[in-house]
Amino acid sequence: MAKEFEGKTIFITGAAKGQGRAVALAFAKEGANVIAFDLGSRIPYPAYNRSSNEDLEKLKDEVEGLGGRIVIFAGDVRNEEDVKLAVSRGVDAFGGIDILFSNAGIAAYGNSWELTSEQWHTLVDINLNGGWLVSKYVIPHLIEKKKGVIIYNSSIAGLRGMNRMSHYAASKHGLVGLARSQAIELAPYGIRVVTLHPTGVNTPMNDGLAELEHTTVEEIAERSAGNLLPVPWIETEDVVEAVKYLAGDKARFITGSQFVIDAGLLTR
Ligand SMILES: NC(=O)c1ccc[n+]([C@@H]2O[C@H](COP(=O)([O-])OP(=O)(O)OC[C@H]3O[C@@H](n4cnc5c(N)ncnc54)[C@H](O)[C@@H]3O)[C@@H](O)[C@H]2O)c1
Repeated sequence: MAKEFEGKTIFITGAAKGQGRAVALAFAKEGANVIAFDLGSRIPYPAYNRSSNEDLEKLKDEVEGLGGRIVIFAGDVRNEEDVKLAVSRGVDAFGGIDILFSNAGIAAYGNSWELTSEQWHTLVDINLNGGWLVSKYVIPHLIEKKKGVIIYNSSIAGLRGMNRMSHYAASKHGLVGLARSQAIELAPYGIRVVTLHPTGVNTPMNDGLAELEHTTVEEIAERSAGNLLPVPWIETEDVVEAVKYLAGDKARFITGSQFVIDAGLLTR
């Protein structure tokens, strides 16, 4: 049977861990070439981040073990030179880009009036400005093909307020405005742009938040929760299925909208 994304190329930010990594592996299994972008080194905020080149190298080994093709790039979504170079290396390797999964992100707690300027700006720079910056360099390659899909990984925090996470919620709401506007700009080129809104997902991010708050992942899940379905969180496979659907032709008329995978949370 033909593989669903054979011959397509997906650019994934935050590809070394969690949801980005799961999407990279799933798309490689479906025949896609992967351009995997991640930090490759630790950043000071939030303190849970322990990114290293090893994570990217491990992903490369796994994708190649599946018979897939991958280019890894260690860089920061806030750094224009990194982004520019990663896009051009990926395009040199695979001849173009078809799908952008803009997923790199960080999370942290703190009352809005107690956050330092540095904390506020770091988070918004990564989660929102970084998403825009990567799209700026990927979009010309989609326009060239007159086809393509951009999926921004927002959150339920992109559609509601979050206690002690105002910078996170603001950045995730920002992605909605960015995606809706780009959907208008890019529709004439046959390019679709959507945001994804998962409830808590079982990834290293939640382990990191638990560590920062000196509590358990269950307690972290509880805080944001109110999932209607009786689950504390969803799994990366659930996100993978949504990304595959949104990136594929079955979703050909879905653009400018918000795709929610919240186990019912936003219904309350
Ligand atoms: N885990 C959740 O509960 C949850 C729920 C909804 C949405 N999200 C969003 O999903 C996305 C993926 O999160 P995850 O759960 O897989 O978290 P994760 O921490 O497991 O993975 C995030 C990845 O992004 C990378 N990253 C962080 N800052 C970066 C930067 N400046 N440049 C390049 N890469 C960077 C990290 O190194 C890491 O590999 C994030 O945007 C997050 O906000 C997470």
